[in-house]
Amino acid sequence: MENNKRPESMERITTPELAQAFIDEQVAALKAQVGDGKVLLALSGGVDSSVTAALLIKAIGENLVAVHVNHGLLRKGEPEQVIDVFRNQLKATLIYVDAVDRFLDKLAGVADPEQKRKIIGAEFIKVFEEEARKLDGIHFLAQGTIYPDILESGPVKSHHNVGGLPAEMNMELVEPVKFLYKDEVRMVGKQLGLPDSMVFRQPFPGPGLGVRCVGAITRDRLEAVRESDAILREEFAKNGLEGKVWQYFTVVPDFKSTGITDGQRTFDWPVIIRAVNTRDAVTATVENVPFELLEHITDRITHEVKGVNRVLYDLTPKPSATIEYE
Ligand code: XMP
Repeated sequence: MENNKRPESMERITTPELAQAFIDEQVAALKAQVGDGKVLLALSGGVDSSVTAALLIKAIGENLVAVHVNHGLLRKGEPEQVIDVFRNQLKATLIYVDAVDRFLDKLAGVADPEQKRKIIGAEFIKVFEEEARKLDGIHFLAQGTIYPDILESGPVKSHHNVGGLPAEMNMELVEPVKFLYKDEVRMVGKQLGLPDSMVFRQPFPGPGLGVRCVGAITRDRLEAVRESDAILREEFAKNGLEGKVWQYFTVVPDFKSTGITDGQRTFDWPVIIRAVNTRDAVTATVENVPFELLEHITDRITHEVKGVNRVLYDLTPKPSATIEYE
């Protein structure tokens, strides 16, 4: 087993200069480890895998083969951003897999949260392995493991990260950011020129919008989650809350209530807004969002999102509630 302890001599990366020194060192180390070999990476678009990809592109260019699996549970604009940044700007070898139907078909009718997570995780590995099998002669597998993943040990990682891949793929692991803390990964990402929206984005669970479309996922309700989340993010950004609030998102529960629109009676879903602050996600407090902003977001969501006639604000801290709904 390779060494999984951060070297004591390793300085905390707190400045662009230190980030650059880390980049130079890692690029040399990656070149030495991989040589002319090809490296496979599951690129979710999250901070950790994106920084890992950017380091590898710098070190080995097109010999990094990044696979972006769209499981249909990503936020609005995410797959497009991954393609734009990595394929168009960084000229990476990027395989984009549209697996939306495959995931949503597997999830149809499944209401149990743990079962949903299991299906998403297992299907992700299947899709990724299928792509890996199509490619010949790849001996290295890169992962965006960061130091807290190691400290929190295996089981947490496998519960929390959809991208956790099985050992039987039998490839040598490449983990260039495994000794970094989150703030250091961000510093390195910024120094590598990745966009702020990628480097400083809020946490997003591996099962994605799947855990915010409570109960059995249907395509129309999933769209309501995606569209309302996009409006919330846009309004938080416009009003200076992006980067200030730790995590914020919308949830669409699996029930309907009566409403009235243009004199017509409706029977539609509610959207729940959740905005929380925390240090470590173990406990969380609710953000005191200005009431006028909540009114404005409510107005936009009820007018712009199909199938929604009501908006609720979740006032519950953790505990008693968890941050997510499933
Ligand atoms: P909870 O809901 O347990 O969430 O209060 C705490 C933090 O963990 C995130 N979370 C997940 N992240 N896979 C992930 O990668 C998951 O299955 C998962 N469940 C929760 C959640 O978004 C919050 O930041």
